[in-house]
Amino acid sequence: MTKLGRLYSLFDSVELPENLPYTQCSTWELEFLYLLGRHHLTGQGRIVELGSGGGGSTYALALGLSESPVFDTRKGRLHAYDFFRVGKGTFASEKFFDSGHKPADDNSFLDDFKRRLGPFLPFLEIHAGDLWQTSDPEDTTPVEFLHIDIAKTARVFRCVSERFLSRMQVGTVVLHQDFAGPRLPWLHHSTGALLPYIEIAGPPIRSTLAFEVTKPIPADVLKRITEDDYTVDEKLTLISAVQDRIDRDHTDGIPFKSVLELSKAYVAHYDGQHRRAWSLAKPLQSDAYLSRTRADHFEQLKKAYAKEPSFLDKLVRRTVGR
Ligand SMILES: C[S@@+](CC[C@H](N)C(=O)[O-])C[C@H]1O[C@@H](n2cnc3c(N)ncnc32)[C@H](O)[C@@H]1O
Repeated sequence: MTKLGRLYSLFDSVELPENLPYTQCSTWELEFLYLLGRHHLTGQGRIVELGSGGGGSTYALALGLSESPVFDTRKGRLHAYDFFRVGKGTFASEKFFDSGHKPADDNSFLDDFKRRLGPFLPFLEIHAGDLWQTSDPEDTTPVEFLHIDIAKTARVFRCVSERFLSRMQVGTVVLHQDFAGPRLPWLHHSTGALLPYIEIAGPPIRSTLAFEVTKPIPADVLKRITEDDYTVDEKLTLISAVQDRIDRDHTDGIPFKSVLELSKAYVAHYDGQHRRAWSLAKPLQSDAYLSRTRADHFEQLKKAYAKEPSFLDKLVRRTVGR
C-alpha cells in the first residue's frame, strides 16, 4: 500500500462539521483533504491550494491541519489562491457568496470567504486575483502539497505547471480535482508524463486523483509539460499509460478508463482534428456513465465533426482554388 493509501482506511473516522461552506467538491474529497491535513502534511514545504472558491475545500484542509500533531499553526501556512470574484472567464460560481448570488454592487466574495475561514485565518495566506499575477515566477520554494482545482483551461494549467509543479520534490503530494473531466486532457497527459516519478495513492476519490512524488523529476520532463511539447499521438499514449493504472473510483461510481478515452477525443478536438475526435468519442456513447453524464460533450464533438469539410470537399476546394 502507498503511504497515502493508508488514508483510505481512515475515511470512516472523519466527521466534518455540518455547516461547511458551500463547495463544489464531494464529501469524499473533503474528507480526504481533511485526512491529509490531519495525518500527512507537516508544513515543512509550501502547502498550496489553487482554486479555493468559496472555501469549502480550504476549510476541510485547514481543519485537518489545525488538528494535526505536527503542523504548527503559528509558523506553518496554507496558501489559498483564487480570483475570489465572479465574472467572465473566472469559473467562479455565484454560490460562493453567502447569499448564494452576486450582490448588485460587488463581484468579490473574498469577505464571505474570510468570514467562513475565520478560525483558520491566522495561518491562511490569501492570494486574490488571477493566478498569473498572484503567483511569483521567482519563487522556487519546494512545495509539499498542491490541491489543484483551478486548471480549467490550458492557459491556467500552464501557470500551474510553470510556477508550482516545477517545485515538486520527492514526497510532494498532488491532488488533481476534476480528473473525471474529459475536457481537461492536460491533467491526464501530464500525469502520464509524470508516471515514472510518482506513485498514485489508489483509486481516485470521486473526481480527484492523488499522487506522491517518489523520484526526482527531470527538469526537461517538467519543461515539456509546461510548454505542452507533446504531439497528439504522444498525448494519447501518455493517457493510455494512466488508463493502465486506474479503473473505477473509490466509490465505484466513475469508470475512469472510459472517462480517459473521452479525454483522448478532446486532445484531438483541441488540435482541430475533429474527424479523429469523433471517431474516438462515437463508440463511447454506449458507455452508461458517459451517456448519462457527458451528453453535452458528445454533442460538442459531433457538431465539430459535422462542420469539418470532408476529404472530397477539401479536394474540390483545392482543385478549384478556393
Ligand atoms: C471549481 S472552483 C473551486 C471550488 C472549490 N475548491 C470548492 O471547494 O468549491 C474553481 C476556482 O478556480 C478559480 N480560478 C480559475 N481560474 C483562475 C485564475 N486564473 N486565477 C485565479 N483563480 C482562478 C475560480 O475563481 C474558481 O473559484
